[in-house]
Amino acid sequence: MSDLLQDLQWRYATKKFDPSKAVAQEKVDFILEAIRLSASSSGLQPYEVFVVTNKDIRAKIVPHAWGQQQIVDASHVLVFAVWDNYTAERINNMFDLVNEERGFSNQGWEDYRNMLLNTYPQRDAETNFEHAARQAYIGLGSALIAAADAKVDSTPMEGFVPKEVDEILGLKEKGLRSVVILPLGYRAEEGDWLVNLKKVRRSEEDFITNVA
Ligand SMILES: Cc1cc2nc3c(=O)[nH]c(=O)nc-3n(C[C@H](O)[C@H](O)[C@H](O)COP(=O)(O)O)c2cc1C
Repeated sequence: MSDLLQDLQWRYATKKFDPSKAVAQEKVDFILEAIRLSASSSGLQPYEVFVVTNKDIRAKIVPHAWGQQQIVDASHVLVFAVWDNYTAERINNMFDLVNEERGFSNQGWEDYRNMLLNTYPQRDAETNFEHAARQAYIGLGSALIAAADAKVDSTPMEGFVPKEVDEILGLKEKGLRSVVILPLGYRAEEGDWLVNLKKVRRSEEDFITNVA
């Protein structure tokens, strides 16, 4: 338990990566698996992760991401790409997969499927996308923790123009929209203004309310 808190103290939103250091595939896989195992509402996992290592593609993203160099200096950039809507097909695919993998179905589960089918596809796409995006952020949280555990540096980033990143990665055609990206790499020895600054968080008293 205490190790995890030390890892979380160690991690920070890295401002400068060492471009000469690449994260080993084994560690990237570990972080991706932590994302894949994350909880999601109704287990729908309504997002995908794009692992961008191609430097030209990463360089194309930078001007649409406030010029943030971490995108090219890190070795991998994870892009969380969210379903643009909940469709009957997407819902059914996930419920069918659960039935197939577990080897049985039951009425309660099928009633639940029908409840979702009668609710989500009828809502407007933006409401569904926002709901799906919240699930992707749970995956982002897992990634941040897993990266810290693997002593890999990372920078969660919303500072980019999603429409442009969607265009660069061809996400629209796949019914996906980028919401957050996560460069992975190793902190530079020099030139990171944040690395030695105290991690500041609201006090426990200010942040936690006990309702006993
Ligand atoms: C969703 C999200 C978006 C963020 N976007 C950016 C970003 O675009 N660029 C950046 O340098 N940091 C970004 N941050 C980092 C936060 O500023 C940082 O996590 C926060 O100040 C706490 O500091 P720490 O992560 O170093 O502990 C983002 C963090 C989150 C969770």
